[in-house]
Amino acid sequence: MATLDVPQTLERFRVAQTSYDTIPYPSYATTATHPLYLHLVGRLHGLTPAAVETCTVLEIGCSDGGNLLPMACALPDATFTGIDLSAVEITRGEQSVAALGLDNVTLIHGDICDYATLLDTPFDYVIVHGVFSWVPRHVQQAILSLCQDYLTPNGIAFISYNTLPGWHHFNIMRDFLKFHTRNIAEPTAQIALARDLLAKLSFVEDAGVLTAHQSALRQAARLLEDQTDTYLFHDFMETVNDPMYFKDFVEIAEGYELQYLANAYNSDRLQKHVADQSHGVFFDENTQSVIEQEQYLDLFGGNAFRQTLLCHANAVTKPTPTVDEFETGLCLASNVRAEFESEIVLRDATRVTFDHSSGASIGSAHPLTKALFVALQSQWPRPIPFMDAVDAAAKMLSDNVIDIDPDDLQILKTNLLQAFQHDTNLVEFHYWVYPVASAQTKQSAPFAYADLQLARGERLLANVRHELVEIDDVDAEILQRLAAGLDDDEICQHLFEWVKAGRFLTTHDDQVFEGSAAQIKTAVRAEMVFRKQRLAQNALLVNGGHTK
Ligand SMILES: C[S@@+](CC[C@H](N)C(=O)[O-])C[C@H]1O[C@@H](n2cnc3c(N)ncnc32)[C@H](O)[C@@H]1O
Repeated sequence: MATLDVPQTLERFRVAQTSYDTIPYPSYATTATHPLYLHLVGRLHGLTPAAVETCTVLEIGCSDGGNLLPMACALPDATFTGIDLSAVEITRGEQSVAALGLDNVTLIHGDICDYATLLDTPFDYVIVHGVFSWVPRHVQQAILSLCQDYLTPNGIAFISYNTLPGWHHFNIMRDFLKFHTRNIAEPTAQIALARDLLAKLSFVEDAGVLTAHQSALRQAARLLEDQTDTYLFHDFMETVNDPMYFKDFVEIAEGYELQYLANAYNSDRLQKHVADQSHGVFFDENTQSVIEQEQYLDLFGGNAFRQTLLCHANAVTKPTPTVDEFETGLCLASNVRAEFESEIVLRDATRVTFDHSSGASIGSAHPLTKALFVALQSQWPRPIPFMDAVDAAAKMLSDNVIDIDPDDLQILKTNLLQAFQHDTNLVEFHYWVYPVASAQTKQSAPFAYADLQLARGERLLANVRHELVEIDDVDAEILQRLAAGLDDDEICQHLFEWVKAGRFLTTHDDQVFEGSAAQIKTAVRAEMVFRKQRLAQNALLVNGGHTK
């Protein structure tokens, strides 16, 4: 059995303790860590996890709260605790909590090893993102024993970590960078020297004589050139970076009476094509455990990072969701679109293909399935209770719906489950209806956390669905005017002034604003309507006021 051996020099630990004060690692909304997705995956795998709206969440290594605080804004009746060793990060986080006026967040400056004295209540969800591989073994032990001691019976822990064999490849570069910067103590100077090395390695000439080792170095150098200094330092030059095999991670967790529940929401999307290639070649569902199959995926795909959900060893779980999920208050959301001339094709047996902007697509000839996708798209991004969506779809197919044929309903459920398992971009399952506004909502405002980010000049915003959305200055202006309570006419007038002042030259699709003042005003209004719709579809708008 794999074990965690404690010996680590105090010196190494001291450096790890202070490095995040020197080179802070600001955190951002990480979608799969939100209780919305933890609850969903837990439920689809047989647990009865705590309700999203009122749950208790602990984030270990929460940094400046960039992941925890958007959740706290969206879930005012849930309780959030963050703990981090860096005083600099916690101070920043506390400033954000004050600016947001949140009363459901506690940030603690402390070492997770002292959890027994720092924390006194259990948690429904524990998040450990970007921490486990970067801390010494005794801290890894503390994290797992905290999960054992403090997770509620149906609680779920999200832990991300660097994995082998993928990191064998990156370690070649890590060893080079650490050796190259060995005589420098100051992190900023280390980063500068590392950047210099990366630039040289990126341009190593091939000329047909590059070894596999040198190709790996050049490839890693090119990848790292696009990464932030923070990532470069903490992943490639930090004292501790301890990748492990998935099977070993699970075995270690079992030592703390925890079990592998599932991969975090969507974290295995990239592995799906590897799984397709591996079926019947490396793994066989009949003779191998899920753990063995997952390990084969990493060995074949070269995975370097995992996001794993753990729960108590004695919790009863199931490996995959079934059509029974549709009887449990499930809501659906989908943003797939199809091109068709007339709705007649929904009613007959014509096969229609629905496409998602990510490239995912699904075809169906089944009328109820086709109509359901159209019904969901019209409501996007709002999740709709399953039977309400079915009713809306049935009304689209017939003016006088009496009863829905049970066989038809069964086909629909099977189709939806297959679509969800193939790619969640095709259809999303939800048990929490997040509070989003539509573009038609009379009074809408930006999501509170995004509003704080806007005030700080940021353009990568967290939305209500806990995704990151990139916006431009015009979107930012619209959001800030909405936050100030301006109506559509006032915002249009403001954007018109921008056009006149030369600050806003073209529409989203590169059309120049030109013509008479009246023509420009019409074009500006159309642009504002388009952009507001896009902001609503990107779940950046909430009803009335802020969600806090
Ligand atoms: C790489 S950063 C990740 C931050 C954030 N979770 C994210 O993913 O963006 C690791 C964080 O863990 C914190 N940390 C390291 N050791 C810790 C310990 N023993 N107790 C609490 N926090 C710790 C660091 O201060 C740092 O903020």
